[in-house]
Amino acid sequence: MRSSNLEQSLSQRGISRREFLKFCTVMAGTLALESTFGSRIARALEAPKRTPVIWLELQDCAGCSESFLRASRPSAAEVVLDVLSVDYHETIMAASGHLAEEAKAATIAAGGYLLVVEGSIPTADNGVYCTIGGRTALDIVEEAAAGALAVVAVGNCAAFGGIPKADPNPTEAVGVMELVTNKPVLNLPGCPLNVVNLTATVVHFLTFGALPEMDDLGRPLFAHGARIHDNCERRGHFDAGEFVRAWGDEGHRKGWCLYQMGCKGPVTYHNCPTVRWNEGTSWPVGSGHGCIGCSEPGFWELGAYNTVEIFDATPPVAFPPVEQPAQTISPASAGVIGGVAGVVLGAAAVATAKQLKSEEED
Ligand code: SF4
Ligand code: F3S
Repeated sequence: MRSSNLEQSLSQRGISRREFLKFCTVMAGTLALESTFGSRIARALEAPKRTPVIWLELQDCAGCSESFLRASRPSAAEVVLDVLSVDYHETIMAASGHLAEEAKAATIAAGGYLLVVEGSIPTADNGVYCTIGGRTALDIVEEAAAGALAVVAVGNCAAFGGIPKADPNPTEAVGVMELVTNKPVLNLPGCPLNVVNLTATVVHFLTFGALPEMDDLGRPLFAHGARIHDNCERRGHFDAGEFVRAWGDEGHRKGWCLYQMGCKGPVTYHNCPTVRWNEGTSWPVGSGHGCIGCSEPGFWELGAYNTVEIFDATPPVAFPPVEQPAQTISPASAGVIGGVAGVVLGAAAVATAKQLKSEEED
């Protein structure tokens, strides 16, 4: 939807200026900026120039589009949608067929757009396993990325290959950054994407003209800079050695730590405990299930697919790194901090495992 006046558009949706400014302040907080950046964000969102968006949906389940459409944190997505011009999203746009493809071609020809990619890209047999409008996803991504200001890969499939890439990966699926090496690529993994993080990324891009600082997996630090384990509401129980040992046991009913039930929170970097889901209602661990590490590479095999791993009482396995194009690597310090955290975590996990084993033997 296009509107020449953001304020008018907000008012049509029943969103007051106070709510809009509050949203800008919340975004500043989500981006780990001082609250004073709220007014700068507001000015950027109110600028008359719109940034076009092309949203490609490829080899996926559409869960991230669903997450995007279900966004209901007051007006967040609506505000961003109003500032952006989503020229092409074949799943939700009114046009179809040739008209839809023409809209995309016109946006690509004009340049200066943000490319959002959802889903992995199959590369086997020249990419024939995902075709849209008679063209392969491989071809479409390469063309759209060439003229993009930046590329945002949403969901684990677009970021790291996700479920389509799980063994035996019959379509030889890859994530965006394995294909696009000449543009800034930001990964917003998760299964699905948390739309709050997409909104914040877009707000950052519109306000500062650049993608936010990333970790060595191309994920924004504001959303993936801390481990689930460090902000988890059950952490006190972990520290006290109070663990759920069977679904529905007393510890489970009391909200104790899910580590022994296979929780991957200690090796997963995501802001789920603080941002939460569904307007901040809850999140996986909050609702009683361990984290399955859906924001990490290879999560489907190491965290979710293998039912031994998902509920295994052994220490969580470390997720493997993925290859990363040079231009998306964040400052070395982030990697060093992550590495140190990983070593400390590894030692803590082994110590806890020993403690649990000795408890069981007693
Ligand atoms: Fe929370 Fe999981 Fe860490 Fe326990 S192991 S404190 S449930 S993140
Ligand atoms: Fe995913 Fe774990 Fe968050 S499963 S949604 S990263 S709590």
